[in-house]
Amino acid sequence: MAHPNLLPELVPTPDANTVPVVEFSHVSIGFDGKQVLQDISFTAQQGETRILLGPAGCGKSVLLKLANGLMRPDSGQIYVFGEEMSTLPQNGLFRLREKIGMVFQESALFDSLTVRENVAYQLRAAHIEDATVEARVQEVLRFVELEHTLDKFPSQLSGGMRRRVAIARAIITHPELLLYDSPTGGLDPTTSATIIDLIVKQRDVYGGTSLLITHRLQDAYMLATHIFNRATNQIQRSPNNEINQKTTFLVLNNTHVVFDGTLQELQCAEDPFLKEFLS
Ligand SMILES: Nc1ncnc2c1ncn2[C@@H]1O[C@H](COP(=O)(O)OP(=O)(O)O)[C@@H](O)[C@H]1O
Ligand SMILES: [Mg+2]
Repeated sequence: MAHPNLLPELVPTPDANTVPVVEFSHVSIGFDGKQVLQDISFTAQQGETRILLGPAGCGKSVLLKLANGLMRPDSGQIYVFGEEMSTLPQNGLFRLREKIGMVFQESALFDSLTVRENVAYQLRAAHIEDATVEARVQEVLRFVELEHTLDKFPSQLSGGMRRRVAIARAIITHPELLLYDSPTGGLDPTTSATIIDLIVKQRDVYGGTSLLITHRLQDAYMLATHIFNRATNQIQRSPNNEINQKTTFLVLNNTHVVFDGTLQELQCAEDPFLKEFLS
């Protein structure tokens, strides 16, 4: 038997930093006999931003819903923070979801609730005391630069503002994993750019891991080439025009993962579908 003092070096103990935050292993799902995702395997490591691309209807939203247990796969395993989602009981799933923030397609705010109550939603559900909730709501609304909208209703806001509220709602628990479903979908190019700026700021200020669906390649490139500068409070190009190696791409097509890699690798891809898709 090894000397106990040597053990830590001989047998690396499982480290939270080495367990992927998300891991799909041979995941398949279909609806009404139609296969949507087939044999999907990928990981998102701690601190990574994984950008999900693919044609409309190829299963990107389904993949995100699988990642937070809103759907269960027909086969395969999904591990989130090392726990297998598909076999977790309901209370285990709730516990896991406390570490996950989700920005739904089209914001999905509650129309009858004010911005304050929309953003506070998860903290209220966890029975956090009022003063703490109010402080946290103000903090995240300041972060998304919407502190003046506390008492407004979603219908009184522009599409871009609603998207910012949805992001504030998702980050109020400081989740370790953020799932963004088409955060710029339906927005004009200028507003889209401000939302991507906010996502870059979220990444560089709070950190964490994210899966992000987008149909806009510009969004993906921005995320890979820009950083948030705390000193100037501005988004800027990465020093030396570096490409962020923790912003990586996953392209789905025809039920499969057809690409998994960095921006440079994506730009060099020879696959005819990818070339067409990126042009
Ligand atoms: N709850 C559901 N019931 C039946 N079919 C669904 C359901 N959710 C998604 N689908 C189908 O799965 C496919 C992929 O959908 P989705 O993930 O929303 O695509 P996208 O890549 O555009 O986000 C579509 O054909 C859609 O109709
Ligand atoms: Mg979708």
